[in-house]
Amino acid sequence: MKRSILLLSAALLLASSSMSYGQGKEPYTGLAATPPMGWNSWNCFAGDINETKVKEIVDLIVSNGMKDAGYEYLNIDDCWQVSRDENGKIVVDEKKFPSGIKALADYVHSKGLKFGIYTCAGKKTCAGWPGSRGHEYQDAITYAQWGVDFLKEDWCSSEGQDALYSYSLMRDALQATGRPILLSICEWGSNEPWKWGNGVGHMWRTTGDIMPFFVGTVYWGGQGIAEIIEKNADLYPYAGPGHWNDPDMLQVGNGNLTYDENKTHFSMWCMMAAPLLAGNDLRKVSKENLEILLNKEAIAIDQDPLGFQGRRYYDYGDREIWVKRLTDGVAVCFYNRGESSWKVTHNFKGESFGPAAINPGNTYTVRDVWAHKDLGLNDRSYTFDVPSHGVVMLRLTKK
Ligand code: GLA
Repeated sequence: MKRSILLLSAALLLASSSMSYGQGKEPYTGLAATPPMGWNSWNCFAGDINETKVKEIVDLIVSNGMKDAGYEYLNIDDCWQVSRDENGKIVVDEKKFPSGIKALADYVHSKGLKFGIYTCAGKKTCAGWPGSRGHEYQDAITYAQWGVDFLKEDWCSSEGQDALYSYSLMRDALQATGRPILLSICEWGSNEPWKWGNGVGHMWRTTGDIMPFFVGTVYWGGQGIAEIIEKNADLYPYAGPGHWNDPDMLQVGNGNLTYDENKTHFSMWCMMAAPLLAGNDLRKVSKENLEILLNKEAIAIDQDPLGFQGRRYYDYGDREIWVKRLTDGVAVCFYNRGESSWKVTHNFKGESFGPAAINPGNTYTVRDVWAHKDLGLNDRSYTFDVPSHGVVMLRLTKK
């Protein structure tokens, strides 16, 4: 009898503590009020990471203006882990990170930045290292002890797993630690995470891996910038504060992208309220590419507190006009993915910009976000030359 009372109270205790996960959601839901910003190691270093390189990048983010521009998370991707010990605890690659992950996280925090790490919902990561399957709570505790602030969870070796169940399990494990940790769902859009991701993670990949070229067909599961934009475009109803569509990390400064293509890539990520995780080697960044990453006017469009994902307003085939409603107006982007330049005249007078639904009766200043120049008011037509694979991006602000 006594034993069954004991068992019953233990069961009640467990039930009440699991119920409190829901109630304890405040630190969790407030984590990504605007799209997360930072840097991730994968797009430039892949598996070739180590603590020296990562610390150099941290120092640069502080000294090159990126921290001031809003880049907050320093995230290491795959290949930091090698095995599990006899208790199942994840073992860090000592050759790459001789001081351990906690020391690295401490270093990142000492610079006023936040620290992110990578795992996989399946048994193995995409590079073949141990994943978190069956170790979710154990790993979450380890991450919390290290001071992790951001977790990207991948989807390799997940055969037979249910995505909603798997990611909810990690969400619950993270919440149980009591440390607010942003959860980035990385299952490449395979199970339409936009339909269930809100409340599970703070952002979810909508496509396969982004490649550092503008156009191109699918290439070992990845795709060029223009194709990713196409795939992410129609998912706008699902994004908003705390829950973002993630068209993947930035390739600005990587591969064969031209100056215009880098600008277009960055602009369209801002128009789509996408997370802005730079992925280039900041030790070698060109002046032009750094200026792109540091364009505070473009970043302000991405980070607008309304959290409205911009959308296509006009579609002339390879030439499109995109609009994003802002708290005090609208961002308008003339996007030319065609092979020749586009001379476009658009009348701003009486224009409500469709889904952005501004009141055309109000007066707005029209500003060119890349030229950093006020052009005039919304009382007339404007003509622009939009280069091939390029953009003209404007901000209309209510006077
Ligand atoms: C997958 C992800 C990438 C990267 C690699 C690491 O391909 O989509 O973003 O994390 O795994 O192996």
